[in-house]
Amino acid sequence: MEQNKPQQTQEKRGMWSSRFGFLMAAVGSAVGLGNLWKFPYLAGENGGGAFVLVYVVLVVILGFTLMLAELSIGRNTNSDAFGAYSKIKKGWGFVGGFGILAGFLILSYYSVVGGWVIKYIVASITGIGADKGAYFTNFITSPVEPIVYHLIFMGLTALIVIRGISGGIEKASKIVMPALFIMLAVIVLRSVTLEGASAGLKYYLTPNFDEITLKVIIAALGQVFFSLSLGMGCMVTYGSYLNKDSDIEKDALLIPSLDSLVAIMAGFAILPAVFAFGFEPSQGPGLMFVTLPAVFENMPLGMFFSVIFFVLVFFAAISSSISLMEVTVAFGIDRLRWSRTTSVMVFTAVMFVIGIGASLSMGAWSGFLIPWIDGNSYGIFDFLDVVTSYYLLPLGGLLSAIFIGFVWGVPNAVKEIRIGSKFRSEKIWSVLIKFVVPVLVFIILLSTTGLLDKIIG
Ligand code: TRP
Repeated sequence: MEQNKPQQTQEKRGMWSSRFGFLMAAVGSAVGLGNLWKFPYLAGENGGGAFVLVYVVLVVILGFTLMLAELSIGRNTNSDAFGAYSKIKKGWGFVGGFGILAGFLILSYYSVVGGWVIKYIVASITGIGADKGAYFTNFITSPVEPIVYHLIFMGLTALIVIRGISGGIEKASKIVMPALFIMLAVIVLRSVTLEGASAGLKYYLTPNFDEITLKVIIAALGQVFFSLSLGMGCMVTYGSYLNKDSDIEKDALLIPSLDSLVAIMAGFAILPAVFAFGFEPSQGPGLMFVTLPAVFENMPLGMFFSVIFFVLVFFAAISSSISLMEVTVAFGIDRLRWSRTTSVMVFTAVMFVIGIGASLSMGAWSGFLIPWIDGNSYGIFDFLDVVTSYYLLPLGGLLSAIFIGFVWGVPNAVKEIRIGSKFRSEKIWSVLIKFVVPVLVFIILLSTTGLLDKIIG
C-alpha cells in the first residue's frame, strides 16, 4: 500500500452519483460499435450461428468472471488502471499500463468509425442513392471527409470527458442507453418480418458445428473482450468511482447480460435484412452501413427511422468512446498529476493523429502495410484492430486473472467483493478466475500467435 505520491481524494477524482447512473455508464461503455457494427459482421464472416454459439459460451465463462475481477480491483484501490495494479502489488502496474496503451490504440480507430456514423446521420437526410455499397466505399476511401467526421467525433468525446464522471459520463449514458434499446427493438421487428428474412434467421440461429474452427474461436474471443470492455482496465477505472456498498457481483452479471442481449439483437436487426436484400453476409466492416439503409428505404417513414437509428448508434458509440478515453485520462490525472482538461487535450490530440492514419489506410494509404508477429501485414486501421482485440485485450484479461489468482490472492478479492454483496457465486468464481479463465485464454492466445501450431506440430 506504499505510495510515493499522495493519493488524490475521492471527491477530486469524481464518483458516480447513483447505482443506476453507474450501471448505465458501464453498460454504455460495453454497448457500442462492438455490438452494433462489429458483432453482426463478425458473425457474417464466421459462419453465422457457429460464431454466435462460441461467442455465447465464451461470454458465460469469461464475461462475469473478468468483469467482477476488474470491478473488484478498481473499487479496492480507487485508482486509475496503472495505479490500481501497482497499489496492490508493486511492480504489477504494467498490467494496467498495457491496458492504457490498448485503450489508446482502440480509440484511435474507434473514433474513425464513430465519424462514419455521424456521416450516416447526415446522409440519412441527404440521401444515399441506389448503390449502398459503392456509397460506403467512396466515402470511407476519400481522403478528407472521413477525417473531418473523425475530428468531430473525437472532439465530442473530449467535451464529455472534460465534464467529469457524474456530470458528463453518467448524465449522457442515463438518457441514451434506454432509448437505444427501444429503437433497436423496433428495427429488429422490421427486419425479421421482411420478405425473405427467414434465410437470414436460419443462418444466424443454426450453428453448423463443422464451421467452429480455430479462426472462429479466436474471432469470438477477441470480440468478447472488445464488446464487454474487458482486458484493458476500463472496468477497473469505472469501478474506482464506485461506493463501497455497491453490489458488484450483481453488476458483473447484469452488464455482460445486457451487452450480449444488445449484440444478439443487432444481429437480428441486420442479418435477416442481408439475406432479404441479397447482400453478402461476409462483406466485413461495411455490413451495417450498407444493409440498414436498404432496410430503412423499404419501410414507411424510412428516413425518420434512419436518422433516429444512426443517432442512437452514435450515442452508443460515444458512451463507449468516453470510457476508452477515461482510462487514459485517469492515468494522466492520477499518475502524471495533470488536470482533467490538460489530460483530455493532450491525449485527444495524439489519438486524433493516429486516427488520421487509420482513416487514410482505407484509401490513399492502403498500400502501407505493417508486418505483425502472426506473419501477416496489415493496413493501419486493421493493425490497430487486430493488435488490440486479438492480442492486447486477451493478454490483459489473462494477466488480470493471474494477478487475482496468484498475486493479490482470491481471498483478498473475495473480501473486497463481499463488502457490498452476498457473493453467492464465490466458489465457482474462485475456480474460474484462478484456473479456468487463465488456461482457456492462454491456449487461445497461443494459437492466435501461431505458436500452438508449432508446438502441436
Ligand atoms: N465495448 C465497446 C463496444 O463494444 C468498446 C469499448 C469501450 C472497449 N471501452 C472498451 C473495448 C474497453 C475494449 C476495452 O463498442
